[in-house]
Amino acid sequence: MTEAEAEAAAVDAWFADTLALSDPALDAALAANVDAGLPAIDVSPAQGKLLHLLARMAGARRILEIGTLGGYSTIHLARALPEGGRVTTLEVDPKHAETARANLARAGMAERVDIRVGRALDTLAALEAEGAGPFDLVFVDADKPSNPHYLASALRLSRPGTVLIFDNVVREGAVVDAASTDASVVGTRAVIETIGREKRLTATAIQTLGVKGWDGFALAIVGEA
Ligand code: SAH
Ligand code: DHB
Ligand code: MG
Repeated sequence: MTEAEAEAAAVDAWFADTLALSDPALDAALAANVDAGLPAIDVSPAQGKLLHLLARMAGARRILEIGTLGGYSTIHLARALPEGGRVTTLEVDPKHAETARANLARAGMAERVDIRVGRALDTLAALEAEGAGPFDLVFVDADKPSNPHYLASALRLSRPGTVLIFDNVVREGAVVDAASTDASVVGTRAVIETIGREKRLTATAIQTLGVKGWDGFALAIVGEA
């Protein structure tokens, strides 16, 4: 960790304390993830709360998440739903999905969340075939090489006004390396370039520095075709 990252992590810790960004259900989810041997790649407490706030600001009733892990971000999103709202979250790893199921139940969110296990390319195709959606907000946080595909699918599952959020679009600055052969960087660059060209999308990207190091989100809203 660089000195700037260490200082930013201290600021994140102070925000987490002072703004009460954590609570027993969120802490228990992170502890259960560690016990189950899941990688600690959940969004940070402050980022999770940002997802929650964006969902509330958008008035989201139907939320799609690609990449569940242990459901830490899912709890933040599910808590933003009004009565009758629903999160559909897609996860390829059955152990991650099981851990998320337990974490969501402990957080009292189980009945609002539909976890679909399988490769997101397949579960998205199934959602499209079922005529699911339109979703009000889509959070994309799975395998980065597939991000261009996830954008295309998210657009098909959207309506004008749908909010799209992509995690991890900075990758310690690697995203600007046009010569990168890292498939995650290639996928991230491709999705940002497509978002920039897509006439239906109004978008930005915001860098973040904190407990999760240097990274960032891309945010977009869908307009009329
Ligand atoms: N959103 C979570 C973190 C997700 S980590 C949070 O912030 O709490 C990324 C997750 O995507 C991992 O659980 C990984 O198993 C899953 N994943 C990776 N490739 C996938 C694929 N092809 N389809 C669905 N999920 C995938
Ligand atoms: C990784 C994935 C994530 O979604 C994240 O937020 C951080 C790291 C990873 O695969 O390393
Ligand atoms: Mg992520």
